[in-house]
Amino acid sequence: MNKLNIKILNIAGISWIGILIIISFSYKGNAPEDITLKETFKDHFMIGAAVNKSQITEDDGFSTPIVKNHFNTITAENELKWESVHPEIDEYNFEPADLIVEFGKKNNMFIVGHTLIWHNQTPGWVFKNDEGEPADRETLLKRIKEHIQKVAGRYKGQIHGWDVVNEALNEDGTLRQSPWMKIIGEDYIAKAFQFAHEADPEAELYYNDFSLENKPKREGAIKIIKKLQSQGIKIDGVGLQGHYKMDWPSAAQLDSTIKDFAALGFKVLITELDIDVLPYKDITAEITLNMEMQEKYNPYKDGLPDSMQVSLAQRYKDLFEVFVENKNSVDRVTFWGITDKDSWLNYWPVRGRKNYPLLFDRSGKPKPAFDAVLETAKIY
Ligand code: XIL
Repeated sequence: MNKLNIKILNIAGISWIGILIIISFSYKGNAPEDITLKETFKDHFMIGAAVNKSQITEDDGFSTPIVKNHFNTITAENELKWESVHPEIDEYNFEPADLIVEFGKKNNMFIVGHTLIWHNQTPGWVFKNDEGEPADRETLLKRIKEHIQKVAGRYKGQIHGWDVVNEALNEDGTLRQSPWMKIIGEDYIAKAFQFAHEADPEAELYYNDFSLENKPKREGAIKIIKKLQSQGIKIDGVGLQGHYKMDWPSAAQLDSTIKDFAALGFKVLITELDIDVLPYKDITAEITLNMEMQEKYNPYKDGLPDSMQVSLAQRYKDLFEVFVENKNSVDRVTFWGITDKDSWLNYWPVRGRKNYPLLFDRSGKPKPAFDAVLETAKIY
């Protein structure tokens, strides 16, 4: 707009600021390419995505550019889990994880290692002795020490933070009776953190779990953390996985969760953010989706209706407002995937559904939720 036009507008009694407000409120389209998530939130927190090997090696035309453009931190979705990196007792497979770490380094990203100790995606041999019987405490401790030294040690100074222990809690806040717990006892957690610290003294170390927004489980996590702190064991942060639903958790619940963990002098990380738009009650892995079930449990197989796009955008906005308000405690927000196309929620907890949990659609285009998220950066 040239000076003459501005003058005419001023004469017409329309202020510049007014015009800008009108433009920004009436703007409904996708953000221009140069508006990126990482730049928008640079004064708030890091912003990231879980990536897998194929997304950075097989060119679908948009996944890699989205990651490079929008994110300044990445987490390997599966490549550093025990079954991927250490499938057999004497066999390590670092090639896929190496590729992701190299990609992160090349693009100056904060690289997160996920995860050292988890009950899922860990091969059966880990918990057995040579006779195929359950391994004893000493054997298992030796194994986790060796595993952590080897994996965290390999990426010393390259992977900046580790989800050391993942999902150790039951919903009621008691410790999950995982094979780690049954064979070693509850100090497997302290040992894992110690081994990780020895392997890379500079790396940040986190406890990561889902549903910590619910009070009993949150209290269980606080207990674990306080115990580690009282033993002088290094732990730097807690990861709220952030696998959210349209109706859970409430903004107030999320806010008090972040504040409770921040009160421990802790970094709070949102580590696996996505929002499940599909029905989730009564859903079990056993459900087979016959025609009738498809209608009920896979309602958006032909696309997400506009009304749902709007609700999803609003939901993302409500959650991001809480992150932004707590920007002094929230250090990182990482989405669990890049586009809806590759989200794990298309095949979990039931295979073959079409879900829409992320900010980019199946062709890599930003959704209305993307714009809604950007808006929240303005409030603080
Ligand atoms: C998921 C991956 O996204 C899937 O590809 C894989 O098949 C199963 O695991 N909590 C976690 C993540 O900590 O590691 C899980 O990732 C999702 C739930």
